[in-house]
Amino acid sequence: MQILDFDSQVFLAPMAGITDKPLRKLTAGFGKGNIVSEMVAINALSRKNPKSYRIADVRDEPYPVVVQLVGSDLQLFDFAAKLAQDLGAHSLDINMGCPVRKIVANKSGSYLMTDMPLASKIIETVVKATPLKVSVKFRKGWDCQHVNAVEFAKMCEESGASYITVHGRTRSEFYSGRADWNIIGEVKAAVKIPVVGNGDVGSVTDARKMLEYTGADGVMIGRAALGQPWLISQIDKGLKTGEEFLPPSHQLVKETLLTHIKELVNYYGEKIALGLSRKYVCWYTKSMRDAKRFREKYVHIDNLPEALKEINLYFEEAKE
Ligand SMILES: Cc1cc2nc3c(=O)[nH]c(=O)nc-3n(C[C@H](O)[C@H](O)[C@H](O)COP(=O)(O)O)c2cc1C
Repeated sequence: MQILDFDSQVFLAPMAGITDKPLRKLTAGFGKGNIVSEMVAINALSRKNPKSYRIADVRDEPYPVVVQLVGSDLQLFDFAAKLAQDLGAHSLDINMGCPVRKIVANKSGSYLMTDMPLASKIIETVVKATPLKVSVKFRKGWDCQHVNAVEFAKMCEESGASYITVHGRTRSEFYSGRADWNIIGEVKAAVKIPVVGNGDVGSVTDARKMLEYTGADGVMIGRAALGQPWLISQIDKGLKTGEEFLPPSHQLVKETLLTHIKELVNYYGEKIALGLSRKYVCWYTKSMRDAKRFREKYVHIDNLPEALKEINLYFEEAKE
């Protein structure tokens, strides 16, 4: 079942502070896959907060970007949806799964799984606000005593969502334990709109297993893509061709990391980019030789030329 009008059933998950423009550009450069923005707070967007406005502005991105909105106020959702459309969103996603206390306290994110009438009104409001497709991302339920993903999915369908994404964990679980793929299958069996399954997919094999096990129409990948921007297109290709993939060469990992840092510098400026590069260095070098020692050294580097020099040196040494 076609999910978006882009020929792929694989999604890069929205990840706050991570799926920013530099990472989206890098991911799209490797090939096909659906790309979702970081969540954008509708309250901040309505105040024209420069940071949120910039996150929502995807006009210069030549590939389709699903822009994710988070909030709870109906009027602000109407305003934010229209603004996101003007700022180039290909389609809109509503965050009804974020477990973070501050978001939940604001009646947003996974709180909305506990207030279906409000969640329904939000979806109807966003659907009415623009001609763009509207999807909803949510969890298995609030906690193991309140598992309501199936009812919630039906509500999303009735309220006008084009497709839904289900993360197989409750709000209480945050990101711990194994994601429950059974609930994704139960949701798929209960609705007619496409369902994207999410949780613990890190390879072509996992993606195929999840799709077969749940019957879902698409698969969304979050943490496994950290430090592996080629993964989304690899999984897309693997599902289409049956191919499996070898880990990338050190040379490709190094070049991708350096390109990533260059994109971070272009977007955030040198100082912020250097700070952000620390987490990316950890992720890109995760399974490499002597990586721990290198990371410990890297976090103390305070200027970009030295950082780039050390990355080059480390990769030379690690391949010996
Ligand atoms: C650092 C981080 C930030 C996240 N930010 C968002 C977000 O902005 N919106 C959202 O819907 N989910 C967010 N998530 C949840 C992911 O989209 C995804 O549902 C979750 O990581 C499970 O998928 P995985 O097992 O493939 O990682 C975030 C997850 C992480 C680890």
